[in-house]
Amino acid sequence: MKSSLSVNHLLGIKEINKDDIELILKTAEHFKEIINRPIKKVPSLRDITIANLFFENSTRTKLSFELAEKRLSADVINFSSSSSSVKKGETLIDTVNNILAMKVDMVVMRHPSPGAAVFLSKNVKSIIINAGDGTHEHPTQALLDAYSIKQKHGNIRGKKVVIVGDIMHSRVALSNIFCLQKCGAEVMVCGPATLIPKFIYQLGVKVEINLMKALQWCDVANILRIQLERLDNYEGSNSNYFPSLREYTMQYGINLDILNSLGKKITIMHPGPINRGVEITSDAADSEHSIILEQVENGVAIRMAVIYLLAGKAGQV
Ligand code: CP
Repeated sequence: MKSSLSVNHLLGIKEINKDDIELILKTAEHFKEIINRPIKKVPSLRDITIANLFFENSTRTKLSFELAEKRLSADVINFSSSSSSVKKGETLIDTVNNILAMKVDMVVMRHPSPGAAVFLSKNVKSIIINAGDGTHEHPTQALLDAYSIKQKHGNIRGKKVVIVGDIMHSRVALSNIFCLQKCGAEVMVCGPATLIPKFIYQLGVKVEINLMKALQWCDVANILRIQLERLDNYEGSNSNYFPSLREYTMQYGINLDILNSLGKKITIMHPGPINRGVEITSDAADSEHSIILEQVENGVAIRMAVIYLLAGKAGQV
């Protein structure tokens, strides 16, 4: 297996190859073992400083990156757009160049605009990791999802994975499709026709409108929340995409009765945050089918692996 990534940034899963994914998953396995030791820290990145720039809300990704950086002994600074000079009209490039002037080596960024991470990588001199850019990509989420499937099922190749919900507004869906296909899984998307974008048909995935048929087909179901903040003109029952959240739940909500009626055991995943009672009920989210908290645990090891592998590229950007 190779020991270096083919890229200097992690902008999306589309830009990396199968060998890169295998290297990240293998490296994460090593870090997972380390973070389960009594002393969870390694001195690997004592000479590296990382800035976490979050222009959009986050719980899991932000804390997971920060913990991963601290476990690697990197110096960490955190930036939140709500309390920064972005509010006074500073551009993204000026903001980041000012942070880089403080001798920062790597930038982790979440931003509401699709393509923001690619834009930044072309305009500043730093390693960039995309922590989610609008409806575009969320590469570390897809990597931790792939790692979690491998951990649960032994391998990813040949597995049937359905992604259920708001496919149109989901960066998790797009990154998962690229990642799972590169790892040899079969991928299906399932949701209301209004939330399935037309471009999805060009990606070689199966499309299913009927939830029960999708669940009967799959080994793994990755359940997405409705991205209410991204729905145009969403006003409770006046959504352009479905009549009401209650009706969405009746058609696409997962519950334990549904899982028990399948006649086989499937694995349930969710990237979070969960809207309990909408896309999934508590009895399903907290059931033995669910690996939702394992996903969160694996996220730290995956982010350690990504940061560690990219830190080796510090002189090349
Ligand atoms: N999965 C995920 O991106 O969660 P956060 O929005 O809390 O980071």
